Amino acid sequence: MTQLVIRRPDDWHLHLRDGEMLRAVAPESARHFGRAIIMPNLVPPVVTGAEAAAYRERILAALPEGAAFTPLMTLYLTEDTDPDDLARAHADGLITAVKLYPAGATTNSASGVRDFDKVRPVLERMAEIGCPLCVHGEVTDQAIDIFDREAVFIDRVLDPIRTTTPGLRVVMEHITTKQGADYARSGGPDLGATITTHHLVINRNHILVGGIKPHYYCLPVAKREEHRLALRAAATSGDPTFFLGTDSAPHTDPLKENACGCAGCFTATNTMSILAEVFEQENALDRLEAFASLNGPAFYKLPANDATITLTRGAPVAYPDKIDTGDGPVTVFDPMMPLHWRVT
Ligand code: DOR
Ligand code: ZN
Repeated sequence: MTQLVIRRPDDWHLHLRDGEMLRAVAPESARHFGRAIIMPNLVPPVVTGAEAAAYRERILAALPEGAAFTPLMTLYLTEDTDPDDLARAHADGLITAVKLYPAGATTNSASGVRDFDKVRPVLERMAEIGCPLCVHGEVTDQAIDIFDREAVFIDRVLDPIRTTTPGLRVVMEHITTKQGADYARSGGPDLGATITTHHLVINRNHILVGGIKPHYYCLPVAKREEHRLALRAAATSGDPTFFLGTDSAPHTDPLKENACGCAGCFTATNTMSILAEVFEQENALDRLEAFASLNGPAFYKLPANDATITLTRGAPVAYPDKIDTGDGPVTVFDPMMPLHWRVT
């Protein structure tokens, strides 16, 4: 196969940041994607409907002239979130989902949730109105090894929340383990899971062997090879539970190449070429459209995009090592393999 036409893909988990960084990275996502779920972990976070509306305007202003890209906004769940404000923003179509960060789990998560009982009324309201909860699924307990934090979160936090809040629709964001994929698969139609591009490519050796590689460090951290293979099987299966959320998360090089480097891989620029390569390696090119363009809208009860993109196989694709931003350079994720599929 040398040409593949698929519905225009969407990115169901994206960090666009703000200011200079937003202006530099928004066009990278708008080039290929029709819509994206926009993460609210700004400093300060996007907590209210009014803040989401203002952020949405800043994103639209940062898009290139004529870009056909719709930002789907989210609110950052705090222990003080007002259920009425949330419900109003959802009813107005201003927000598509709400994001749960356990406090301290990742970048800019300090305002997240410490005591899950405190957000129970908000979660019950979300179940009532059909507003999905996007979950960063890692416990923050210092006693739990970082490589086990996703699996422990499922048992200690996620499963109890889902049991006590029937009808709550949940997306397990950026799953990184076989346990995550298995739990998502068995959760019925109210449970979905996003998988990033980079977790289909790297395992923990890529971060740590032969010198520390800060540009492969993200959260949840990449796990053992058996987990990467489980994610590849899930993503390429066609199972509607699984869909693309790149978690493309730009940080400038000085903040990554640092004694305490930030977590995040920036994949917006080359994601579609990487995914096509991965799906080709798995003999699953015919299921790329389900993963990147169909399963996500189906979970969110939105129509798939009408437009299509064409992927063409040929000589290795050239893409920049870094993109320039007004805040400094941002390194583009290096998949360590030639990419033969370009979006035309
Ligand atoms: O690697 C990550 N980067 N994981 C997250 O959960 C947050 C993100 C960011 O905002 O940089
Ligand atoms: Zn993220």
